Amino acid sequence: MTHIKASITGIQGYVPDYVLTNAELETMVATNDEWIVSRTGIKERRILKGEGLGSSHMGAEAVKGLLAKTNTKPEEIDLLICATTTPDFVFPCTANLICDMVGIRNIGSFDIQAACSGFIYALTLGSQFIETGKYKKVIVVGSDKMSAIVDYTDRKTCILFGDGAGAVLLEPDTEGNGIIDSIIKSDGAGYPYLNQKAGGSRYPPTHETVDNRLHYVYQDGAQVFKFAVTNMADIAADIMERNGLTSENTAWLVPHQANRRIIEATANRMGVGMDKVMMNIHKYGNTTAATIPLCLWDYESQLKKGDNLILAAFGGGFTWGAMYLKWGYDA
Ligand code: UT7
Repeated sequence: MTHIKASITGIQGYVPDYVLTNAELETMVATNDEWIVSRTGIKERRILKGEGLGSSHMGAEAVKGLLAKTNTKPEEIDLLICATTTPDFVFPCTANLICDMVGIRNIGSFDIQAACSGFIYALTLGSQFIETGKYKKVIVVGSDKMSAIVDYTDRKTCILFGDGAGAVLLEPDTEGNGIIDSIIKSDGAGYPYLNQKAGGSRYPPTHETVDNRLHYVYQDGAQVFKFAVTNMADIAADIMERNGLTSENTAWLVPHQANRRIIEATANRMGVGMDKVMMNIHKYGNTTAATIPLCLWDYESQLKKGDNLILAAFGGGFTWGAMYLKWGYDA
């Protein structure tokens, strides 16, 4: 019996038009371009402006583009999963809204919340439905409107994040390409270091939570950096090792874009040169669940069928993960 793998057969990104530069941030908080670039690698990020637009808007734009590009009709889709930490609403989920916006009806759709590791989590889950043979076309979206939960008076966090979305189509592959292996991990003891304190069931919104600015991202950057740099590098190295991959036969590292220094440490641990590392943090910043699909979208023209890719991420939770996949098509 031929083993079915879930292969990415199309990728589409979406970023809003508005560019928030380091120069503009200098007018908002006590920061400067030199600090931001040297500590993070970020030069600018995109911000979604417009009344009533949430993560679903960006996700839907990415999915519309993906359907057009892959010549797929909405009614052919069997399942849609959206990774997001900034859903439009507490409920219904953003995946339901995206389906409605693009005309996908009567299928299962749901959200996954694993912060910056969300896309790897969602891809891991989505691939199972293809591998069992149950579904033929699954869409996995990563979309985050981080500007909705960023405190633009907090210089420690507001320089980091941006808005964006990316979507991939997963289809069965019996030629040996597709998702070969993945590892997902979490440690809820990391909660104090990276969180949004209010707005959920533990601390529902009150005047007090708003006055105390508890609806924004809180991050102890130095602590998160310490965990991120070790765990992302270790998990990427682990997945290479257990699949017999070396720096020579790895075509690309596709890392979550949180900080250029974390990305460099991961590449270094894997023994992979920076020429094999996808990087677009300079233009989009940290878009949470969207960083990895936005990288794949940016580098799509350089990808070849059969290329060995390692995806790796670390984020709030803490959550982290890595994936080994063989790219499914020549652009
Ligand atoms: O994607 C989810 C996972 N998140 C991450 O992986 C992020 C991990 N953390 C980081 O990337 C880094 O910790 C940051 C980029 C957030 C911060 O860099 P850092 O080198 O850890 O800086 P720090 O927080 O230790 O701050 C160093 C100094 C402090 O000043 P003092 O106390 O030494 O006088 C900060 O107040 O830099 C100051 N600072 C700033 N200065 C100018 C903090 N933010 C800024 C700023 N502009 N925007």
